[in-house]
Amino acid sequence: HVLVFCIETNIDEAFVTEYFNRVHAIRNTSKSILKPFQDFLISDFENKTLLKIEAWATNQAYLAMGNLLTVCALEGIDSCPMEGFDSNAYDDILGLKKQGLKSVLLLPIGYRADDDMFADFKKVRKSITESIIEL
Ligand SMILES: Cc1cc2nc3c(=O)[nH]c(=O)nc-3n(C[C@H](O)[C@H](O)[C@H](O)COP(=O)(O)O)c2cc1C
Repeated sequence: HVLVFCIETNIDEAFVTEYFNRVHAIRNTSKSILKPFQDFLISDFENKTLLKIEAWATNQAYLAMGNLLTVCALEGIDSCPMEGFDSNAYDDILGLKKQGLKSVLLLPIGYRADDDMFADFKKVRKSITESIIEL
């Protein structure tokens, strides 16, 4: 299987409003309590360039993928995070554009083949002390 992570292409007032409507529906939080934050987000996103909005949304997709990488590993499922693919081709072939989506990340998942010589290679990782700065 290949999981295709997408961002929504219309992150606008309607997108933000839909989120707050969901909060209201699920938690029954009054609209007057939600309104200040909702108004803030709507104007904050109106002032962002499309490039900035896409970068923000893509970062959210990385959060979701990060969780999945961990869950797959815990379940003994192999996975391989990929960016740098032909996003437009995926969008065309899978008909993503008409669903208001744009692919940003791929995650093939599955079980390693018995004859996969790479599967037994040692993992190349920095040591903990090279990766974490303790203050
Ligand atoms: C076709 C392909 C595309 C990949 N694209 C990316 C990428 O865009 N960014 C990235 O950080 N790693 C990319 N990788 C690397 C893998 O996600 C993974 O980090 C690598 O296989 C090493 O994993 P390991 O150290 O856990 O064994 C790619 C790997 C493959 C095979």
